[in-house]
Amino acid sequence: MKNVNFAIIGTGSIVELHIESIKEIDNATVVALCSSNEARAKEAEEKYNIPCYSSLASLFANEKIDAISICTYSGNHLEPCVEAAKRGIHVITEKPLEVTLDRADQMINACKENNVKFACIFQSRFKPDYLKLKSAIEDGKLGKLILGNAYIKWFRSEDYYAGSNWRGTMKGDGGAALINQGIHTIDLLLSLMGDVKSIVGKVKTTLHDIEGEDLGVAILDFQNGATGVIEGSTALYPGYPERLEIYGEHGSVILEGGKITSWNLKGDTTKASSPQESDSGSSDPMSISYKYHKLQLSDFVESIIHDKKPLITGEEGRPALEVIKTIYKSSESNREIEL
Ligand SMILES: NC(=O)c1ccc[n+]([C@@H]2O[C@H](COP(=O)([O-])OP(=O)(O)OC[C@H]3O[C@@H](n4cnc5c(N)ncnc54)[C@H](O)[C@@H]3O)[C@@H](O)[C@H]2O)c1
Repeated sequence: MKNVNFAIIGTGSIVELHIESIKEIDNATVVALCSSNEARAKEAEEKYNIPCYSSLASLFANEKIDAISICTYSGNHLEPCVEAAKRGIHVITEKPLEVTLDRADQMINACKENNVKFACIFQSRFKPDYLKLKSAIEDGKLGKLILGNAYIKWFRSEDYYAGSNWRGTMKGDGGAALINQGIHTIDLLLSLMGDVKSIVGKVKTTLHDIEGEDLGVAILDFQNGATGVIEGSTALYPGYPERLEIYGEHGSVILEGGKITSWNLKGDTTKASSPQESDSGSSDPMSISYKYHKLQLSDFVESIIHDKKPLITGEEGRPALEVIKTIYKSSESNREIEL
């Protein structure tokens, strides 16, 4: 295949990032959009000047599609994924994979059984400072890992939840602050620290009128013997850049808003980056740049053209969802849970 023809499913706030990203990728074209609501579909078609269908059936009947990008609400990722996989169409989905592990596994299995590529968007994994820290850990520069913390002390207004029929609901969002906002930093933490052995978690709804949590904390025991702490929220005004702290026997590195703000390894004089350049979504969900979506979509296109694994497969996107769901379970049952 020389060029990958995309359809984007879902036309909400994130769709523009996908359209802009794919427009700038050689060998990729957005040929169609899909929104389940006729009025929204018409609106999107006029806004982006791309045909927009109001059902998956009409989309697949009328267009020749190689890949779909799923941008529907989180509890509606499974259906388009399975419909596409059955037709031999490759799939990339927005995070989280889905709202339950069972639904996420159905997606992973459908793509495996139909032999199509499957990727999960976690664009922060393409940020240069994260990659620099990852290489340092892999090269043994931090030595044995001791402690890894993810702090996502963000804020979302009451309007953010009131203006949406899915955010903060269990059916549509699968929870709230951890599964929707915190998941990016939790995914980074897990990708650096490795597999989790057990979790003690506590989640609460403190400020917002929602079903899911707006505050969650957890203590993690990693398989490698290290410990971890997660604190995630959308109730902490005004919202602070997310923070990732990794401590090893030879020193520590701290990222804030995706930038390295402390790099303190014994005998290493590397300077930290300037924190002002951060592009955190700590208080404004629309403040994220499309730069890293473009890198990930580009990797996905390469994986299709050259028949190789995308950098973040469905399986790679699963641990963050599993850890978050286990935090909820631990909170509910008031006990430590082994994974
Ligand atoms: N990677 C990131 O940083 C990032 C940022 C924002 C959102 N997201 C993810 O993107 C997804 C969409 O979020 P959003 O903010 O664009 O949401 P949104 O509410 O703005 O849009 C959701 C869209 O889903 C579609 N939709 C609604 N009901 C549907 C149905 N029954 N069938 C098919 N489509 C339906 C509609 O087109 C709607 O516009 C979520 O999974 C979210 O977690 C990721």
